[in-house]
Amino acid sequence: MASIAIIGTGYVGLTTGACFSHLGHDVICADVDADKIARLQAGEIPIVEKGLDRLVDEGIRSGKLSFVLGAANASKDAEFHYLCVPTPQGDDGAADLSYLEAAAAEIASVLPNNSVVVNKSTVPVGSTRVVARVLGRSDVAVVSNPEFLREGTAVSDFLHPDRVVIGSGDQEAAIRVAALYARIAAPIMVTDPVSAETIKYASNAFLASKLSFVNAIATLCEAVGADVNDVVLGMGYDPRIGREFLRPGPGWGGSCFPKDTRALAKIAQDAGYDFHFLNEVLRVNDDQFDRTAQKLIDSVDGAAEGSHIVALGLTFKAGTDDLRDSPSIEVLKRVTAAGIRVKAYDPAVLADNNSLSRIYPELDIEIMPDPYSAAEGAASLAILTEWDEFAWLDFDKLAEIMIGRNIVDARNLLDPSVPRRRGFNYRGVGR
Ligand code: NAD
Ligand code: UGA
Repeated sequence: MASIAIIGTGYVGLTTGACFSHLGHDVICADVDADKIARLQAGEIPIVEKGLDRLVDEGIRSGKLSFVLGAANASKDAEFHYLCVPTPQGDDGAADLSYLEAAAAEIASVLPNNSVVVNKSTVPVGSTRVVARVLGRSDVAVVSNPEFLREGTAVSDFLHPDRVVIGSGDQEAAIRVAALYARIAAPIMVTDPVSAETIKYASNAFLASKLSFVNAIATLCEAVGADVNDVVLGMGYDPRIGREFLRPGPGWGGSCFPKDTRALAKIAQDAGYDFHFLNEVLRVNDDQFDRTAQKLIDSVDGAAEGSHIVALGLTFKAGTDDLRDSPSIEVLKRVTAAGIRVKAYDPAVLADNNSLSRIYPELDIEIMPDPYSAAEGAASLAILTEWDEFAWLDFDKLAEIMIGRNIVDARNLLDPSVPRRRGFNYRGVGR
Protein backbone atom coordinates (compact mmCIF):
# COMPACT_ATOMS: atom_id res chain seq x y z
CA MET A 1 0.00 0.00 0.00
CA ALA A 2 1.21 3.51 -0.81
CA SER A 3 1.54 6.77 1.10
CA ILE A 4 -0.48 9.57 -0.50
CA ALA A 5 -0.61 13.31 0.17
CA ILE A 6 -3.76 15.12 -0.93
CA ILE A 7 -3.21 18.84 -1.55
CA GLY A 8 -6.56 20.64 -1.35
CA THR A 9 -9.23 19.00 0.81
CA GLY A 10 -12.42 20.14 -0.95
CA TYR A 11 -15.12 18.13 -2.73
CA VAL A 12 -12.58 16.24 -4.83
CA GLY A 13 -9.64 16.13 -2.41
CA LEU A 14 -11.61 14.95 0.61
CA THR A 15 -13.42 12.28 -1.42
CA THR A 16 -10.16 11.13 -3.03
CA GLY A 17 -8.38 11.01 0.33
CA ALA A 18 -11.18 9.19 2.15
CA CYS A 19 -11.61 6.67 -0.69
CA PHE A 20 -7.88 5.98 -1.06
CA SER A 21 -7.64 5.35 2.71
CA HIS A 22 -10.69 3.05 2.43
CA LEU A 23 -8.76 1.15 -0.27
CA GLY A 24 -5.93 0.64 2.25
CA HIS A 25 -3.50 3.46 1.44
CA ASP A 26 -1.99 5.80 4.04
CA VAL A 27 -3.37 9.25 3.31
CA ILE A 28 -2.63 12.74 4.64
CA CYS A 29 -4.95 15.48 3.43
CA ALA A 30 -3.70 19.08 3.50
CA ASP A 31 -5.44 22.40 3.08
CA VAL A 32 -4.69 26.09 3.53
CA ASP A 33 -7.98 26.58 5.36
CA ALA A 34 -7.15 26.19 9.07
CA ASP A 35 -10.81 26.07 10.09
CA LYS A 36 -11.55 23.26 7.62
CA ILE A 37 -8.57 21.23 8.85
CA ALA A 38 -9.56 21.72 12.52
CA ARG A 39 -13.10 20.52 11.79
CA LEU A 40 -11.83 17.48 9.88
CA GLN A 41 -9.37 16.62 12.65
CA ALA A 42 -12.36 16.65 15.01
CA GLY A 43 -14.15 14.23 12.67
CA GLU A 44 -16.57 16.84 11.30
CA ILE A 45 -17.32 16.77 7.54
CA PRO A 46 -17.49 20.33 6.16
CA ILE A 47 -19.57 19.41 3.06
CA VAL A 48 -22.77 17.51 2.30
CA GLU A 49 -21.72 14.32 0.48
CA LYS A 50 -23.44 10.96 0.90
CA GLY A 51 -21.30 8.27 2.57
CA LEU A 52 -18.27 10.52 3.12
CA ASP A 53 -18.74 10.75 6.91
CA ARG A 54 -18.53 6.97 7.26
CA LEU A 55 -15.32 6.72 5.24
CA VAL A 56 -13.64 9.64 7.02
CA ASP A 57 -14.57 8.16 10.39
CA GLU A 58 -13.26 4.74 9.29
CA GLY A 59 -10.01 6.31 8.03
CA ILE A 60 -9.38 8.32 11.21
CA ARG A 61 -10.09 5.29 13.43
CA SER A 62 -7.80 2.98 11.42
CA GLY A 63 -5.04 5.61 11.47
CA LYS A 64 -4.92 5.58 7.65
CA LEU A 65 -6.37 9.07 7.20
CA SER A 66 -5.22 12.30 8.79
CA PHE A 67 -5.43 16.05 8.14
CA VAL A 68 -2.74 18.74 8.31
CA LEU A 69 -2.46 22.44 7.63
CA GLY A 70 -0.14 23.25 4.71
CA ALA A 71 0.80 21.17 1.68
CA ALA A 72 4.45 20.72 2.61
CA ASN A 73 3.48 19.03 5.89
CA ALA A 74 1.56 16.38 3.96
CA SER A 75 4.06 15.93 1.13
CA LYS A 76 7.32 15.59 3.01
CA ASP A 77 6.94 11.85 3.63
CA ALA A 78 4.57 10.75 0.84
CA GLU A 79 5.24 8.85 -2.37
CA PHE A 80 2.25 10.29 -4.31
CA HIS A 81 1.06 13.90 -4.20
CA TYR A 82 -2.44 14.56 -5.52
CA LEU A 83 -3.12 18.18 -6.51
CA CYS A 84 -6.85 18.77 -5.90
CA VAL A 85 -6.85 22.56 -5.69
CA PRO A 86 -9.36 24.88 -7.41
CA THR A 87 -8.95 25.87 -11.06
CA PRO A 88 -11.59 28.61 -11.29
CA GLN A 89 -12.42 30.58 -14.38
CA GLY A 90 -10.02 33.43 -15.04
CA ASP A 91 -11.02 36.81 -16.49
CA ASP A 92 -10.43 35.69 -20.09
CA GLY A 93 -12.41 32.43 -19.73
CA ALA A 94 -9.28 30.30 -19.34
CA ALA A 95 -8.72 28.23 -16.18
CA ASP A 96 -6.79 30.15 -13.53
CA LEU A 97 -3.74 28.02 -12.69
CA SER A 98 -2.48 30.18 -9.81
CA TYR A 99 -3.66 27.75 -7.09
CA LEU A 100 -2.03 24.82 -8.89
CA GLU A 101 1.23 26.66 -9.37
CA ALA A 102 1.24 27.87 -5.75
CA ALA A 103 0.64 24.34 -4.45
CA ALA A 104 3.41 22.93 -6.66
CA ALA A 105 5.79 25.65 -5.47
CA GLU A 106 4.97 24.85 -1.82
CA ILE A 107 5.85 21.17 -2.11
CA ALA A 108 8.75 21.36 -4.60
CA SER A 109 11.56 21.34 -2.07
CA VAL A 110 10.15 18.72 0.31
CA LEU A 111 9.18 16.02 -2.19
CA PRO A 112 10.98 12.75 -1.45
CA ASN A 113 13.18 11.40 -4.25
CA ASN A 114 11.35 9.62 -7.06
CA SER A 115 7.90 10.53 -5.84
CA VAL A 116 5.03 11.24 -8.25
CA VAL A 117 2.94 14.42 -8.43
CA VAL A 118 -0.54 13.84 -9.82
CA ASN A 119 -2.84 16.51 -11.29
CA LYS A 120 -6.39 15.63 -10.29
CA SER A 121 -7.65 19.19 -10.61
CA THR A 122 -9.25 19.89 -13.99
CA VAL A 123 -6.44 21.64 -15.81
CA PRO A 124 -5.88 22.91 -19.34
CA VAL A 125 -3.89 21.05 -21.90
CA GLY A 126 -0.20 21.39 -21.11
CA SER A 127 -0.60 21.76 -17.33
CA THR A 128 1.51 18.71 -16.48
CA ARG A 129 4.38 20.57 -18.14
CA VAL A 130 3.53 23.71 -16.13
CA VAL A 131 3.63 21.76 -12.85
CA ALA A 132 6.88 20.01 -13.83
CA ARG A 133 8.44 23.40 -14.58
CA VAL A 134 7.36 24.88 -11.23
CA LEU A 135 8.62 21.80 -9.36
CA GLY A 136 11.98 21.89 -11.12
CA ARG A 137 12.67 18.33 -9.98
CA SER A 138 14.03 15.94 -12.62
CA ASP A 139 13.61 12.99 -10.23
CA VAL A 140 9.85 13.62 -9.77
CA ALA A 141 7.33 12.53 -12.42
CA VAL A 142 4.17 14.56 -13.07
CA VAL A 143 1.11 12.56 -14.13
CA SER A 144 -2.39 13.62 -15.16
CA ASN A 145 -5.23 11.65 -13.51
CA PRO A 146 -8.44 13.66 -14.06
CA GLU A 147 -11.46 13.08 -11.87
CA PHE A 148 -14.96 12.33 -13.18
CA LEU A 149 -16.94 12.14 -9.91
CA ARG A 150 -20.22 14.00 -9.48
CA GLU A 151 -21.15 15.82 -6.31
CA GLY A 152 -23.86 14.05 -4.35
CA THR A 153 -22.61 10.64 -5.52
CA ALA A 154 -18.90 11.39 -5.19
CA VAL A 155 -17.95 8.41 -3.00
CA SER A 156 -19.75 5.87 -5.13
CA ASP A 157 -18.42 7.47 -8.34
CA PHE A 158 -14.86 7.31 -7.01
CA LEU A 159 -15.09 3.70 -5.86
CA HIS A 160 -17.06 2.52 -8.93
CA PRO A 161 -15.83 4.73 -11.77
CA ASP A 162 -16.67 4.19 -15.43
CA ARG A 163 -12.95 4.54 -16.16
CA VAL A 164 -9.67 5.72 -14.67
CA VAL A 165 -7.66 7.91 -17.04
CA ILE A 166 -3.92 8.31 -16.56
CA GLY A 167 -1.84 10.61 -18.73
CA SER A 168 1.92 10.31 -18.61
CA GLY A 169 4.95 10.22 -20.87
CA ASP A 170 6.67 8.13 -18.20
CA GLN A 171 5.48 4.52 -18.42
CA GLU A 172 6.80 3.54 -15.00
CA ALA A 173 5.10 6.49 -13.25
CA ALA A 174 1.81 5.68 -15.04
CA ILE A 175 1.97 2.07 -13.83
CA ARG A 176 2.66 3.22 -10.25
CA VAL A 177 -0.40 5.52 -10.34
CA ALA A 178 -2.53 2.77 -11.93
CA ALA A 179 -1.54 0.43 -9.07
CA LEU A 180 -3.21 2.81 -6.58
CA TYR A 181 -6.53 1.78 -8.15
CA ALA A 182 -5.75 -1.97 -8.07
CA ARG A 183 -8.73 -2.73 -5.83
CA ILE A 184 -11.15 -0.85 -8.09
CA ALA A 185 -12.91 -2.74 -10.88
CA ALA A 186 -12.81 -0.29 -13.79
CA PRO A 187 -11.04 0.06 -17.13
CA ILE A 188 -7.75 1.90 -16.68
CA MET A 189 -6.70 3.89 -19.69
CA VAL A 190 -3.14 5.12 -20.03
CA THR A 191 -2.45 7.84 -22.55
CA ASP A 192 -0.27 10.91 -22.96
CA PRO A 193 -0.90 13.90 -20.62
CA VAL A 194 -2.35 16.18 -23.32
CA SER A 195 -4.92 13.54 -24.31
CA ALA A 196 -5.83 12.87 -20.65
CA GLU A 197 -6.39 16.59 -20.05
CA THR A 198 -8.48 16.81 -23.23
CA ILE A 199 -10.59 13.77 -22.23
CA LYS A 200 -11.66 15.56 -19.04
CA TYR A 201 -12.73 18.80 -20.75
CA ALA A 202 -14.31 17.02 -23.71
CA SER A 203 -16.38 14.84 -21.34
CA ASN A 204 -17.74 17.78 -19.34
CA ALA A 205 -18.40 19.87 -22.45
CA PHE A 206 -20.17 16.95 -24.15
CA LEU A 207 -22.46 16.44 -21.14
CA ALA A 208 -23.19 20.18 -20.99
CA SER A 209 -24.00 20.12 -24.73
CA LYS A 210 -26.39 17.22 -24.18
CA LEU A 211 -28.20 19.25 -21.52
CA SER A 212 -28.44 22.38 -23.66
CA PHE A 213 -29.83 20.19 -26.44
CA VAL A 214 -32.45 18.63 -24.18
CA ASN A 215 -33.45 22.03 -22.77
CA ALA A 216 -33.84 23.32 -26.33
CA ILE A 217 -36.00 20.28 -27.13
CA ALA A 218 -38.10 21.08 -24.03
CA THR A 219 -38.70 24.59 -25.38
CA LEU A 220 -39.69 23.10 -28.72
CA CYS A 221 -42.07 20.72 -26.91
CA GLU A 222 -43.77 23.69 -25.23
CA ALA A 223 -44.15 25.36 -28.64
CA VAL A 224 -45.61 22.33 -30.43
CA GLY A 225 -47.55 20.78 -27.53
CA ALA A 226 -45.37 17.66 -27.05
CA ASP A 227 -44.44 16.20 -23.64
CA VAL A 228 -40.66 16.29 -23.18
CA ASN A 229 -40.77 13.48 -20.61
CA ASP A 230 -42.15 11.13 -23.26
CA VAL A 231 -39.82 12.56 -25.91
CA VAL A 232 -36.65 11.85 -23.90
CA LEU A 233 -37.98 8.44 -22.87
CA GLY A 234 -38.49 7.57 -26.50
CA MET A 235 -35.05 8.92 -27.44
CA GLY A 236 -33.32 7.12 -24.57
CA TYR A 237 -34.33 3.65 -25.76
CA ASP A 238 -31.73 4.11 -28.49
CA PRO A 239 -28.44 2.99 -26.87
CA ARG A 240 -26.53 5.42 -29.11
CA ILE A 241 -28.36 8.24 -27.30
CA GLY A 242 -28.67 6.63 -23.85
CA ARG A 243 -31.05 7.37 -21.00
CA GLU A 244 -28.72 9.40 -18.82
CA PHE A 245 -28.46 13.18 -18.71
CA LEU A 246 -31.71 13.87 -20.52
CA ARG A 247 -33.66 15.62 -17.76
CA PRO A 248 -34.59 19.17 -18.75
CA GLY A 249 -34.30 21.81 -16.05
CA PRO A 250 -33.85 25.50 -15.28
CA GLY A 251 -30.47 25.41 -17.08
CA TRP A 252 -27.35 23.54 -16.04
CA GLY A 253 -24.70 24.75 -13.62
CA GLY A 254 -22.39 23.74 -10.80
CA SER A 255 -18.77 24.36 -9.98
CA CYS A 256 -17.47 22.72 -13.16
CA PHE A 257 -19.66 22.63 -16.30
CA PRO A 258 -19.82 26.41 -16.84
CA LYS A 259 -16.13 27.07 -16.19
CA ASP A 260 -14.93 23.94 -18.01
CA THR A 261 -17.06 24.60 -21.11
CA ARG A 262 -15.71 28.16 -21.30
CA ALA A 263 -12.17 26.93 -20.64
CA LEU A 264 -12.39 24.42 -23.50
CA ALA A 265 -13.60 27.14 -25.86
CA LYS A 266 -10.59 29.23 -24.78
CA ILE A 267 -8.17 26.29 -25.17
CA ALA A 268 -9.49 25.81 -28.72
CA GLN A 269 -9.24 29.54 -29.50
CA ASP A 270 -5.64 29.67 -28.26
CA ALA A 271 -4.88 26.64 -30.41
CA GLY A 272 -6.30 28.41 -33.49
CA TYR A 273 -9.69 26.67 -33.66
CA ASP A 274 -12.92 28.61 -33.24
CA PHE A 275 -15.08 26.13 -31.26
CA HIS A 276 -18.19 28.31 -31.76
CA PHE A 277 -20.41 25.28 -31.11
CA LEU A 278 -19.53 25.60 -27.39
CA ASN A 279 -20.43 29.30 -27.33
CA GLU A 280 -23.86 28.32 -28.63
CA VAL A 281 -24.17 25.61 -25.93
CA LEU A 282 -23.51 28.31 -23.31
CA ARG A 283 -25.91 30.75 -25.00
CA VAL A 284 -28.72 28.16 -25.02
CA ASN A 285 -28.11 27.69 -21.30
CA ASP A 286 -28.37 31.43 -20.63
CA ASP A 287 -31.61 31.44 -22.62
CA GLN A 288 -32.89 28.65 -20.37
CA PHE A 289 -32.17 30.75 -17.24
CA ASP A 290 -34.03 33.65 -18.87
CA ARG A 291 -36.98 31.49 -19.87
CA THR A 292 -37.28 29.93 -16.40
CA ALA A 293 -37.06 33.35 -14.75
CA GLN A 294 -39.78 34.64 -17.08
CA LYS A 295 -42.07 31.79 -15.98
CA LEU A 296 -41.55 32.84 -12.36
CA ILE A 297 -42.14 36.51 -13.20
CA ASP A 298 -45.32 35.59 -15.11
CA SER A 299 -46.50 33.51 -12.15
CA VAL A 300 -46.93 36.63 -9.98
CA ASP A 301 -48.68 38.60 -12.70
CA GLY A 302 -51.69 40.33 -11.16
CA ALA A 303 -50.67 39.40 -7.59
CA ALA A 304 -51.00 41.96 -4.83
CA GLU A 305 -48.20 44.52 -4.49
CA GLY A 306 -45.41 43.19 -2.25
CA SER A 307 -46.41 39.53 -2.43
CA HIS A 308 -43.58 37.10 -2.96
CA ILE A 309 -42.44 33.91 -4.70
CA VAL A 310 -41.40 30.82 -2.75
CA ALA A 311 -38.23 29.35 -4.26
CA LEU A 312 -37.62 25.73 -3.31
CA GLY A 313 -34.01 24.68 -3.88
CA LEU A 314 -30.88 26.82 -4.13
CA THR A 315 -28.06 24.32 -4.65
CA PHE A 316 -27.03 23.50 -8.23
CA LYS A 317 -28.64 20.07 -7.93
CA ALA A 318 -29.97 17.81 -5.16
CA GLY A 319 -27.66 15.89 -2.83
CA THR A 320 -25.07 18.64 -2.37
CA ASP A 321 -24.70 21.91 -0.45
CA ASP A 322 -22.69 23.42 -3.31
CA LEU A 323 -24.05 26.79 -4.45
CA ARG A 324 -21.34 27.61 -6.97
CA ASP A 325 -22.82 28.62 -10.35
CA SER A 326 -26.20 27.28 -9.30
CA PRO A 327 -28.96 27.54 -11.95
CA SER A 328 -31.43 28.36 -9.13
CA ILE A 329 -29.39 31.41 -8.22
CA GLU A 330 -29.06 32.46 -11.87
CA VAL A 331 -32.85 32.35 -12.15
CA LEU A 332 -33.42 34.18 -8.84
CA LYS A 333 -30.98 36.94 -9.80
CA ARG A 334 -33.21 37.66 -12.80
CA VAL A 335 -36.41 37.43 -10.74
CA THR A 336 -35.20 39.81 -8.01
CA ALA A 337 -33.87 42.20 -10.68
CA ALA A 338 -37.49 42.39 -11.91
CA GLY A 339 -38.41 43.74 -8.45
CA ILE A 340 -40.03 40.56 -7.12
CA ARG A 341 -39.50 39.48 -3.51
CA VAL A 342 -38.26 35.91 -2.93
CA LYS A 343 -38.40 33.68 0.15
CA ALA A 344 -36.35 30.52 -0.31
CA TYR A 345 -35.92 27.17 1.35
CA ASP A 346 -33.24 24.55 0.69
CA PRO A 347 -32.55 21.58 2.99
CA ALA A 348 -28.78 22.09 2.59
CA VAL A 349 -28.75 25.88 3.03
CA LEU A 350 -29.64 26.94 6.53
CA ALA A 351 -30.78 30.44 7.41
CA ASP A 352 -28.00 30.88 9.97
CA ASN A 353 -25.31 29.70 7.55
CA ASN A 354 -23.67 32.53 5.61
CA SER A 355 -22.55 30.40 2.63
CA LEU A 356 -25.11 32.02 0.34
CA SER A 357 -24.29 35.61 1.24
CA ARG A 358 -20.56 34.86 1.00
CA ILE A 359 -20.82 33.65 -2.61
CA TYR A 360 -23.67 35.95 -3.72
CA PRO A 361 -23.49 39.06 -1.51
CA GLU A 362 -25.71 41.01 -3.91
CA LEU A 363 -28.56 38.45 -3.96
CA ASP A 364 -31.42 39.84 -1.89
CA ILE A 365 -33.57 36.87 -0.83
CA GLU A 366 -34.84 35.65 2.52
CA ILE A 367 -33.87 32.11 3.66
CA MET A 368 -36.64 30.30 5.53
CA PRO A 369 -36.42 27.19 7.75
CA ASP A 370 -39.03 25.11 5.85
CA PRO A 371 -41.21 25.27 2.71
CA TYR A 372 -44.40 26.20 4.58
CA SER A 373 -43.07 29.22 6.46
CA ALA A 374 -41.70 30.39 3.09
CA ALA A 375 -45.11 29.83 1.45
CA GLU A 376 -47.15 31.85 3.98
CA GLY A 377 -48.87 34.57 1.93
CA ALA A 378 -46.98 33.71 -1.29
CA ALA A 379 -48.28 34.47 -4.77
CA SER A 380 -46.56 31.47 -6.37
CA LEU A 381 -44.19 28.61 -5.69
CA ALA A 382 -41.22 27.49 -7.79
CA ILE A 383 -39.25 24.23 -7.59
CA LEU A 384 -35.71 24.98 -8.74
CA THR A 385 -33.70 22.05 -7.31
CA GLU A 386 -34.94 18.47 -7.43
CA TRP A 387 -34.68 17.62 -3.69
CA ASP A 388 -36.78 14.53 -3.07
CA GLU A 389 -38.72 16.16 -0.22
CA PHE A 390 -40.25 18.66 -2.68
CA ALA A 391 -42.02 15.78 -4.44
CA TRP A 392 -44.08 15.25 -1.28
CA LEU A 393 -45.36 18.77 -0.59
CA ASP A 394 -48.71 19.04 1.18
CA PHE A 395 -50.78 20.94 -1.38
CA ASP A 396 -53.84 21.09 0.91
CA LYS A 397 -51.74 23.00 3.40
CA LEU A 398 -50.19 25.17 0.67
CA ALA A 399 -53.66 26.02 -0.66
CA GLU A 400 -54.59 27.30 2.81
CA ILE A 401 -51.53 29.47 3.39
CA MET A 402 -50.68 30.81 -0.10
CA ILE A 403 -52.62 33.69 -1.56
CA GLY A 404 -51.85 32.71 -5.18
CA ARG A 405 -52.31 29.40 -6.99
CA ASN A 406 -49.34 29.17 -9.37
CA ILE A 407 -46.68 26.46 -9.36
CA VAL A 408 -43.58 26.58 -11.59
CA ASP A 409 -41.83 23.22 -11.56
CA ALA A 410 -38.50 23.89 -13.26
CA ARG A 411 -37.34 20.28 -12.65
CA ASN A 412 -40.51 18.38 -13.70
CA LEU A 413 -40.42 16.85 -10.23
CA LEU A 414 -44.16 16.77 -9.57
CA ASP A 415 -46.99 14.75 -11.00
CA PRO A 416 -48.97 17.77 -12.36
CA SER A 417 -52.30 16.15 -11.47
CA VAL A 418 -51.51 16.42 -7.72
CA PRO A 419 -51.35 20.24 -7.45
CA ARG A 420 -54.04 20.63 -10.14
CA ARG A 421 -56.50 18.56 -8.07
CA ARG A 422 -56.05 21.15 -5.27
CA GLY A 423 -56.80 24.02 -7.64
CA PHE A 424 -53.24 25.05 -8.52
CA ASN A 425 -52.10 26.13 -11.99
CA TYR A 426 -49.06 24.00 -12.88
CA ARG A 427 -46.25 24.88 -15.33
CA GLY A 428 -43.36 22.46 -15.82
CA VAL A 429 -40.59 22.36 -18.43
CA GLY A 430 -41.45 21.10 -21.90
CA ARG A 431 -44.83 19.69 -20.97
P1 NAD B 1 -12.92 23.00 -3.65
O1 NAD B 1 -12.92 24.46 -3.75
O2 NAD B 1 -14.07 22.29 -3.02
O3 NAD B 1 -11.60 22.49 -2.90
C1 NAD B 1 -10.31 22.97 -3.15
C2 NAD B 1 -9.56 23.06 -1.84
O4 NAD B 1 -8.19 23.38 -2.11
C3 NAD B 1 -10.07 24.14 -0.88
O5 NAD B 1 -10.38 23.55 0.37
C4 NAD B 1 -8.90 25.12 -0.77
O6 NAD B 1 -8.82 25.73 0.50
C5 NAD B 1 -7.73 24.20 -1.04
N1 NAD B 1 -6.48 24.84 -1.44
C6 NAD B 1 -6.27 25.89 -2.26
N2 NAD B 1 -4.96 26.14 -2.38
C7 NAD B 1 -4.30 25.23 -1.62
C8 NAD B 1 -2.93 24.99 -1.32
N3 NAD B 1 -1.94 25.70 -1.86
N4 NAD B 1 -2.63 23.96 -0.47
C9 NAD B 1 -3.59 23.22 0.10
N5 NAD B 1 -4.92 23.43 -0.15
C10 NAD B 1 -5.26 24.41 -1.01
O7 NAD B 1 -12.71 22.47 -5.16
P2 NAD B 1 -13.22 21.10 -5.79
O8 NAD B 1 -14.66 21.23 -6.15
O9 NAD B 1 -12.76 19.99 -4.94
O10 NAD B 1 -12.41 21.11 -7.17
C11 NAD B 1 -11.01 20.93 -7.20
C12 NAD B 1 -10.60 20.63 -8.64
O11 NAD B 1 -11.22 19.41 -9.07
C13 NAD B 1 -11.03 21.68 -9.66
O12 NAD B 1 -10.04 21.74 -10.67
C14 NAD B 1 -12.30 21.10 -10.25
O13 NAD B 1 -12.54 21.55 -11.56
C15 NAD B 1 -11.98 19.62 -10.25
N6 NAD B 1 -13.16 18.72 -10.20
C16 NAD B 1 -14.18 19.01 -9.37
C17 NAD B 1 -15.26 18.12 -9.28
C18 NAD B 1 -16.44 18.42 -8.38
O14 NAD B 1 -17.45 17.73 -8.50
N7 NAD B 1 -16.37 19.39 -7.49
C19 NAD B 1 -15.26 16.95 -10.03
C20 NAD B 1 -14.16 16.67 -10.87
C21 NAD B 1 -13.10 17.57 -10.93
C1 UGA C 1 -20.20 17.06 -13.40
C2 UGA C 1 -19.94 15.77 -14.18
O1 UGA C 1 -21.15 15.00 -14.25
C3 UGA C 1 -18.84 14.94 -13.54
O2 UGA C 1 -18.57 13.79 -14.33
C4 UGA C 1 -17.58 15.81 -13.43
O3 UGA C 1 -16.56 15.11 -12.77
C5 UGA C 1 -17.91 17.07 -12.65
O4 UGA C 1 -18.99 17.79 -13.30
C6 UGA C 1 -16.75 18.01 -12.57
O5 UGA C 1 -15.88 17.98 -13.41
O6 UGA C 1 -16.82 18.77 -11.63
P1 UGA C 1 -21.47 17.71 -11.16
O7 UGA C 1 -21.06 19.12 -11.48
O8 UGA C 1 -21.31 17.21 -9.78
O9 UGA C 1 -20.69 16.69 -12.11
O10 UGA C 1 -23.02 17.61 -11.50
P2 UGA C 1 -23.93 16.91 -12.61
O11 UGA C 1 -24.68 15.82 -11.99
O12 UGA C 1 -23.17 16.60 -13.83
O13 UGA C 1 -24.95 18.10 -12.91
C7 UGA C 1 -24.50 19.31 -13.51
C8 UGA C 1 -25.69 20.20 -13.80
O14 UGA C 1 -26.52 19.62 -14.80
C9 UGA C 1 -26.61 20.43 -12.59
O15 UGA C 1 -27.05 21.76 -12.58
C10 UGA C 1 -27.76 19.46 -12.83
O16 UGA C 1 -28.96 19.86 -12.22
C11 UGA C 1 -27.86 19.53 -14.35
N1 UGA C 1 -28.50 18.32 -14.93
C12 UGA C 1 -27.89 17.11 -14.87
C13 UGA C 1 -29.72 18.45 -15.59
O17 UGA C 1 -30.29 19.57 -15.67
N2 UGA C 1 -30.30 17.36 -16.16
C14 UGA C 1 -29.70 16.12 -16.12
O18 UGA C 1 -30.28 15.15 -16.68
C15 UGA C 1 -28.47 16.00 -15.46
